[in-house]
Amino acid sequence: MSIQAKPILIDCDPGHDDAVALVMAHRSPAIELLGVTTTCGNAGIDKTTRNALRILEFIGAGNVPVAAGCVRPLTRPLVLGTADGPSGLEGSKYLPDPTMTIEPVHAVDFLARMLSKAPEPIDFVATGPLTNVALLVMKYPQVLAKIKHLTWMGGVFYRKSEIISPTEFNAFCDPEALKIVLESGVPITMVGLDVTRRVLIEEPQFEELAKIDTPLGRLVVDWLRYYDKLHRRTMNIGGAMHDPLALAAVIDPTLITTRPAHIAVDVGGAYTFGATVADFWGTRGEKPNAEIAVDVDVERFFDLMFSLLRG
Ligand code: BDR
Ligand code: CA
Repeated sequence: MSIQAKPILIDCDPGHDDAVALVMAHRSPAIELLGVTTTCGNAGIDKTTRNALRILEFIGAGNVPVAAGCVRPLTRPLVLGTADGPSGLEGSKYLPDPTMTIEPVHAVDFLARMLSKAPEPIDFVATGPLTNVALLVMKYPQVLAKIKHLTWMGGVFYRKSEIISPTEFNAFCDPEALKIVLESGVPITMVGLDVTRRVLIEEPQFEELAKIDTPLGRLVVDWLRYYDKLHRRTMNIGGAMHDPLALAAVIDPTLITTRPAHIAVDVGGAYTFGATVADFWGTRGEKPNAEIAVDVDVERFFDLMFSLLRG
């Protein structure tokens, strides 16, 4: 019996972990990758877009349309990540410059077009700051019903944070965008640091990766060695597979356990902007607006990730 592949759109800021998520999406028989949009985050928009093109071309996904998005957050100054090196994807010595070109429209208009022509509502995965998605909410509210579910890598609730405690990077970059998306009515699952900091690349994972003796396998090892080194230096943990876990949760939702809550994001705090706050008991009198990931099956996640990289 053949499975019906889920059509999805991905908005991302590659980034090593975004890159692995893109590879997994393209290789999974459970997914049909309809298009990719880019945002600033791990690097500036020119770099994240170039990285998306380079990755897709390298893995034979040159037919997947890519549209470039916002150059900066909605209201705040641009914040760029440091965990992926100056290009946003250091360690990519086998990755040639792209010959593919981007769509001649802005990411937000591209997303609206893809959603409006989809015969049924489709899944949307976002693995960067939510600037493009917030603008979609503002500009094209009529297409939001076509988003079946938004799975976003972002937020932290049990406060093992990385940037400024208690803030996660994607939320920290553009909290106003997150607020708009949380208030949009789009069904959302937040795959945040509470679970993504549990899927770490350590030596046993590097040993598994080293067995994948293909150009892609070698490229991923080089990416993750670079990424892992910076993670250990700055956060004292191995390379966290943040974005691959969000993507994996769309392929197989049983990999994570979620809990509904009303989620708010602090946009006013002098020191806490970007902090995500969950009201589990409805004490603010507001209905849950998101599911947050609270647990993960680490072993099954890595089995899936390795099988797709091997595939
Ligand atoms: C998130 O921020 C970026 O560094 C990663 O790509 C991931 O999307 C983790 O906080
Ligand atoms: Ca990312």
